[in-house]
Parts: sequence; C-alpha cells; structure tokens
Amino acid sequence: MLKQITNKKEMDKITVIGAGNVGATVANVIAHKDLTKDLILLDVKEGVAEGKALDIWQTSSINHFNTRVTGVTNNYLATKGSGIIVITSGIPTKHGMSRDDLIKTNASIVKDVTEKAIKYSPDAIIIVVSNPLDVMTYAAYKASNKPSHKVFGMAGILDTGRYRAFLSSALDVSPTDIHALLLGGHGNTMVPLPRYTSVNGIPVTQLLGKEELDKIVERTKMGGGELVNLMGTSAWYAPGAAAAQMVEAIVDDQNRIFPVCACLNGEYDEKGVYLGVPVRLGRQGIKKIIEIELDKNEKQLIRTSANEVRDVMKVLDDMKIFKD
Ligand code: LAC
Repeated sequence: MLKQITNKKEMDKITVIGAGNVGATVANVIAHKDLTKDLILLDVKEGVAEGKALDIWQTSSINHFNTRVTGVTNNYLATKGSGIIVITSGIPTKHGMSRDDLIKTNASIVKDVTEKAIKYSPDAIIIVVSNPLDVMTYAAYKASNKPSHKVFGMAGILDTGRYRAFLSSALDVSPTDIHALLLGGHGNTMVPLPRYTSVNGIPVTQLLGKEELDKIVERTKMGGGELVNLMGTSAWYAPGAAAAQMVEAIVDDQNRIFPVCACLNGEYDEKGVYLGVPVRLGRQGIKKIIEIELDKNEKQLIRTSANEVRDVMKVLDDMKIFKD
C-alpha cells in the first residue's frame, strides 16, 4: 500500500542515550511514529542497546514503520549528525540515597553524555528526561554550551498526562477531551492549574468539587512516587511516550503548546532557573515561552517551586564540574 503522501517532515537521525526502560520506550514510540530515517539507541552497558534496538527493529514489518533502529555501546560516532538527542541516562533513586547524592551521580553522567554527543551533533536539540529533571536539564544546558531554546526537559507532558488520566477516571470522559496546564518543577512542588483545566472547553471546576479536584492535584504531584511504590522502579511508558510526543512536535514543526522544563529569563518573574512552563514547540526547539495570567496563590506556588529548583541547582553549581 503506497504510504499516504503527507507534508510530514522527517529527521535523518535521532539519538536516544540510555537504553533503560524509559530510553527503550522513547525509541520504540519514535520508531513506530516513523519520525526519523535512523534512530540510534546508545548505552554504556555492552549489548543492552543493541538487543533492545534489534527487538524494536524486528517489529517494523509487523507494525509498518521504516525507521532503522540501531543499538550501540558507547559509540558516539554512530550518533553523528543527529537532529535531536534524547538523554535518559542516569541511575534511579535508590532507597536511602540522598537527593544530593542522586544529583551528584546523575549530573556527572548527564554532563559526560551531553559533551560526547554534542561533539558529533553540534546542531542537535537536546531533550532531557533524566532525574532530578529540572537540574539535569540545567546540567545538560551547561555541558552543551547551546542556546537555552535548544536544551529543555520533559516533565510537564508526563505530569499533565497523569493529571488528565486521573480526571478522565473521575469524570468518566475521554482523556483526549481533557486539556490541562501545569507549571513548576518536576517534583512535589509542581503546580497543576485547575483554572486552566477544561473538558472540551468546559472548566473542570464546573464538573468536579474542590475536594475531589484537590485530591487529584495532590495525587498528580506524587504520581512518580506512586508508581515506584507499586513497581519498585520508576515509570517508563508515560515518560517515554511524553518524550516522543515532544520529538514529534519538533520533527513535524507542529507549534504545539506543551508544558516543558525551560530556562526562564524573566518570564513569570523568574530568571536563570529551569522550570516547567507552557511553550510553543517546533523545529527550532522552543519558539516561545508563553506567560499566562496567574492569581496571587498560583504566583506564590510557582515562586515556591522555582526556589526549590534553585536550591537543587545550587547543589550542582557547588560541585564545580562545569567551566563557567
Ligand atoms: C516520574 C519520573 C520518570 O515522574 O520522573 O515517573
């Protein structure tokens, strides 16, 4: 069957670094959406990326995609010329591990893989998924020496995905009819915004009582932890799908409005902090950071979240692993 002729754009090469659950899921969704001619999945552990990439490639005739999926071990030359680099590397939070220990370990990993990848793909857009997300995005920005509209993090689509799923269950409506915005850091201080949540244009506050809505907001904030408690490891289907949706918006120059972890330079009265905000996303990366009107309480919540992220960014700065 002739593939439907569309004005669909395509990239020559996209790289996913880290072939763990999240990285492999991102690679799988990108391949199934046929967003690139070549997809390189890279990991440090011998055989992991090769095996998962081959497994994905072997679904190509079953699921009708042409993206060539290749796994490599530490071979950054194979990533040369990537238009997008998705960074999922890093260790998951382990019981008893302090937040600062996690930051120090993962910041060194993110710095290392960013420097190696950007050497072969200096024009690539970088999407960070590694945790703690906001500060790892900051780490990739520092390591890449790229403009901030080309280095951003995936969190808001994941968090609003959870928020929308909870609302869909509570309201018994299609999740695709629920539109929501969420600001702030990817953690307990994130700020889902019921005032900016609607079900096909109907404000959610007209459909759900405050108590139930507050419960859903709180459950969204703890969404990652809920899954770690259930599975003993962090999520991968929703984070992977969310990162792939950002890739698609970039490849197809869709001008989608998504909550994305972006570097603020005065927007929302915040400067020099990486925080989740609505952006217009397209082929050049972040085309615009969108400022929405916030009430006094919402502004305070954003300020609290920004200060929490600043504290974590200071842990990274104090490591002095980057040239200023
Ligand atoms: C979560 C991790 C992926 O929120 O940050 O599940």
